[in-house]
Amino acid sequence: MASGGVSLADRLEEIRADALAAIAAASDAETLESARVRWLGRSGELSGAMSGMRDLGPADRPATGRLANEVKQALEAAYESREKQLAAAEAADRPGPDLTLPGRREWPGGAHPVTQVVDEICEIFAELGFTRAAGPEIETDWHNFTALGIPLDHPAADMHDTFWLDDHVVLRTHTSPVQARVMQANQPPIRVVVPGMCYRRDPFDASHAPAFEQIEGLAVDEGIDFVEFRAAIDFFVHRFFGPGTRTRFRASYFPFTEPSAEVDVTCFLCGGSGCSACKRTGWIEIMGSGMVDPVVFEECGLDPERYTGYAFGMGPARIAMLRYGIPDIRLLYEGDVGFLEQFTR
Ligand code: DAH
Repeated sequence: MASGGVSLADRLEEIRADALAAIAAASDAETLESARVRWLGRSGELSGAMSGMRDLGPADRPATGRLANEVKQALEAAYESREKQLAAAEAADRPGPDLTLPGRREWPGGAHPVTQVVDEICEIFAELGFTRAAGPEIETDWHNFTALGIPLDHPAADMHDTFWLDDHVVLRTHTSPVQARVMQANQPPIRVVVPGMCYRRDPFDASHAPAFEQIEGLAVDEGIDFVEFRAAIDFFVHRFFGPGTRTRFRASYFPFTEPSAEVDVTCFLCGGSGCSACKRTGWIEIMGSGMVDPVVFEECGLDPERYTGYAFGMGPARIAMLRYGIPDIRLLYEGDVGFLEQFTR
């Protein structure tokens, strides 16, 4: 006989009833845990009662032992299921997403700042009748150099300045070879602008990129003179940089133009008074240009007695840098969306 006249079996039934009630009544994890410790713990009620087994006669032991096991399993099962219920209830109580918050704006993408400059330049020349043309970035040395009057022993054709892919195949170093392609495929009048990537063995630093954009321009017809050339460039400059901008033609040299000129415009940042962008000169160089050299017409199969024309080439990345005050050309080519996003139109 255990516990003041109550049989062990009765005591086990009492524990079963009380513990089940306590487990069912536990309304949070903490209360449930103290119920577990009290009824199922190592020095809890159940194990306390079990220590009375040793006072039982051998005849009573098997049945009481079975009962004790049954009670233990019942309590453990009740404990586990109550624990799951409480966890589920707690999860359900946690606040869900706030559906009234404004949505996160997805950036839909946009044109790269250099692409924007390219498009703007092409649109302005379109008003003068120029259409867009394109040519391959992998080019023959004839198109890239010879057709343009550049001898293959010219430093520009050197291994150190050009990516040679094969004996006569290069990554084009400028968009000028498309002049030759257009003249071979079309009879004048020709008016094209040719944007595209060019490649040179330059270091990748703040002001150089080994892959960069150019825009080529070419106009060929009967009777095109220097006056028409200047007028076209002035029209473009006023449209692109603003009506107050002045243009200056500085004598220069290119193998494929004669005469040749660098075109400068009054600095569009300081208006010509001198700042860091124009290196205090008030002028910014925007393109190389000139009247097409008769040698180029000959190479491309056009009659140099009949046709004249002008050509120009500019770097839209440099123009974008000046326009937006971008200090390092690498920013344009690293693909950092956080940086590029701010130029979305
Ligand atoms: N191709 C020249 C360069 O890469 C740029 C250039 C200068 C293009 C004068 C022209 C031109 O069409 O007439 O430096």
